[in-house]
Amino acid sequence: MNILILGSGGREHSLAWAIQQNPKCDKLIVAPGNAGIAQMCECAKLDILDGDAVCSFASDHAIDFVVVGPEDPLARGIADHLRQAGFLVFGPSQAAAKLEASKSFTKDICDAAGAPTASYAHFIDGEAAMAYIRAQGAPIVVKADGLAAGKGVTVAMTLPEAEAAITDMFEGTTGAEVVIEEFMEGEEASFFVLCDGETILPVGTAQDHKRAFDGDEGPNTGGMGAYSPAPVMTDAVTQKALDQIVAPTMAEMKKRGTPFEGVLFVGLMIKDGQPKLVEYNVRFGDPECQCLMMRLGGQILDLLQACAEHRLDEMTVNWADDHTLTVIMAANGYPGAYTKGSVIEGLGTLPEDSKNMVFHAGTTAVAGQITATGGRVLAVTARADSLTQARDGAYANIKAITWPGGFYRKDIGWRAL
Ligand code: AMP
Ligand code: GLY
Repeated sequence: MNILILGSGGREHSLAWAIQQNPKCDKLIVAPGNAGIAQMCECAKLDILDGDAVCSFASDHAIDFVVVGPEDPLARGIADHLRQAGFLVFGPSQAAAKLEASKSFTKDICDAAGAPTASYAHFIDGEAAMAYIRAQGAPIVVKADGLAAGKGVTVAMTLPEAEAAITDMFEGTTGAEVVIEEFMEGEEASFFVLCDGETILPVGTAQDHKRAFDGDEGPNTGGMGAYSPAPVMTDAVTQKALDQIVAPTMAEMKKRGTPFEGVLFVGLMIKDGQPKLVEYNVRFGDPECQCLMMRLGGQILDLLQACAEHRLDEMTVNWADDHTLTVIMAANGYPGAYTKGSVIEGLGTLPEDSKNMVFHAGTTAVAGQITATGGRVLAVTARADSLTQARDGAYANIKAITWPGGFYRKDIGWRAL
């Protein structure tokens, strides 16, 4: 089977690494990929947001199966484009990708499905939003929606913070939309399920560390480290999440004629054993994916293919009783402005096997050297029988990496340990 993976991050490196272990994988191409991926398979320059370009690349290279990594191309309909051209694709349609692309859409689906989530209100008018938060009081959560997306999420612990977030979102912006949510207390976890429109198959749990610095201090990032499984996702919590949140959401999507087919990343807040939905994403998390792929290995190809072929009901996941932990090394300055082009040394001295991997994100090879070109640059990942051993393994490997231009958190896994 000839496989094309779209994306260039640590998530895609780990997907490529796991897929390549499956004997069914003949040729593997990642577009556009990165310097780490280029060490294990072919990388191709390709604009992955351009549906026509991706389709003609796939047909020129006799691709049998396309796996889409990031949300951007999905939200723009790359999966529909490829399916219409006759390709087998792992990834949801544009209509189903709205579960990530639009917060108000997801809230509406949750209402219809009766899925527990924060109560909320949607506003297109700044004055009305301001009046609402003043009536509700703090803590309260302000999220950009629609055209204002990119301005993100403010978890406001005080009313002035919430007011500032509203002002920021509406000032100078026409067509801004916000969702204002009840603040949920509890512990967060990420739950990943494959869905082929009909069958739902859990493929793992993880916990991410969103803040830039130790002790959960500093600005929010895309994720500075993760581990799997998440201890807070007990069997009872997992079952509740499936029965109360995932299954009714999937049924509602099907009922609307837009069944979800792909991986659903279910962001949960858990308090007193009760999960509530924080958000959906329509792709694997990064760096959660690195943890999941190291635990799942080559079987992931069979699972993704069965999902794309609507036969998930035939599949089971083979679990080892193991733990993985990944530590992100990021460029100094990230998530703000960061320098590019600093050289990373020592990578060649590290073991790369089923228990130790350095997955690359923002790297480029220049004259035989690996240089940092992104914000999040490396995901140093280890697998072991216990979470403590996995953590020790990942941090031992980091010691062999010499990169004065980067930093990492020293406390990944603290909550579980
Ligand atoms: P989101 O982009 O919706 O995932 O929000 C980003 C982060 O904000 C989440 O991972 C949570 O840590 C936090 N957050 C979002 N919504 C809420 C909420 N209703 N209550 C508490 N924290 C939230
Ligand atoms: N690590 C969080 C995300 O991928 O959205």
